[in-house]
Amino acid sequence: MPQRRLIPITCSDILFEYKLSGKGIYLARYARIIGWGKYLPQKVLTNQELERLVNTSDAWIMSRTGIRERRIAADDETASSMAVHAARAALKVAGLEPHCLDLVIAATCTPELIFPACAALIQNSLGAKNAAAFDINAACSGFIYALATACQFIAAGAYNNILVVGSEVYSRILNWKNRNTCVLFGDGAGAVVIQASDAPPGSLSFVLGNDGSRANSIYTPGPCGLNKGPYYITMNGPEVFKFAVNVICLATKQAVKAAGLELSDIELLIPHQANTRILKSAAKAIGLPLEKVFINVDRYGNTSAASIPIALCEAIEEGRLKEHDHLVLVGFGGGLSWAAMVIEWGPRPKKL
Ligand code: UT7
Repeated sequence: MPQRRLIPITCSDILFEYKLSGKGIYLARYARIIGWGKYLPQKVLTNQELERLVNTSDAWIMSRTGIRERRIAADDETASSMAVHAARAALKVAGLEPHCLDLVIAATCTPELIFPACAALIQNSLGAKNAAAFDINAACSGFIYALATACQFIAAGAYNNILVVGSEVYSRILNWKNRNTCVLFGDGAGAVVIQASDAPPGSLSFVLGNDGSRANSIYTPGPCGLNKGPYYITMNGPEVFKFAVNVICLATKQAVKAAGLELSDIELLIPHQANTRILKSAAKAIGLPLEKVFINVDRYGNTSAASIPIALCEAIEEGRLKEHDHLVLVGFGGGLSWAAMVIEWGPRPKKL
């Protein structure tokens, strides 16, 4: 069993104007990603089609966001139904039957029901009858929050096999007459199966944080609040942009340090996919070459909690990860929240 290393993060780590309250945590029992899958709805909505809906242009969207097209869920698709497609693919890669799952965690802010949880619906559709199930809402940081939560159950020795999904149908909370938001988002789902391992490779460290004083920078009202609807996403784009560049940089550095690594040890950064300009600025601020940053926002837009597992799945499918590579997942979004996790990539553990 490796020694637990706790590396304190000091004030000198606080750079720029944003302070990170989250602590870097080193994980002692490892969670290894043994399965991955994604689901994107069939319907493609291009920038040219959006030109016919609102006063926008392909040139504006491409130059300000890097988004070319996004997917839109069909009328009969929901966060749970898309998640089930992604989850089945992940279970297949893992070679696990649904009844082997101990826990299902769904990261979403667009569940079809207030309760029960989206994860409960996913559990039932999969037939994961031995699994506990709950949702996490940390907006676009949700997948990493969910993954870090899953890692705690594994670190505690409570569970061995956990399904973590991110699934969103933002098309249902967009005002399709508001060009400030409707061009940015898309629908989709991604999933991973993680398994306990007493030795690396696996999850090494994570950072989670939130600044609730800035909750109104990006939010969607709901039916239980004071707002009578309609329940559309509202966002201060430039403010979130600035926040994003800073926290991608800071959270990545904190998580890498907590893992006992240097930035030069990182082979791939998979950030939340919101805007190519954010990702380019963040890569520059971190000092990482852009080739080490995975970007697919051009094809899917911002899929919130689904963007990181979809991107991870594509990075694996494209052969961007090999054994013992160090990978950073980093997210940011409503909250304002942020999250990062360092993972050493590796094969399925031989035995539990
Ligand atoms: O998942 C986390 C959540 N979200 C984000 O990460 C989003 C972060 N922010 C951004 O990505 C960018 O701020 C945006 C892409 C949202 C906006 O880009 P920007 O360069 O910050 O533009 P802006 O909001 O400052 O707007 C510039 C101009 C404005 O016109 P005026 O006031 O200068 O005449 C907007 O009205 O662009 C206009 N504009 C548009 N024009 C054409 C805003 N949206 C559009 C549009 N098409 N779709």
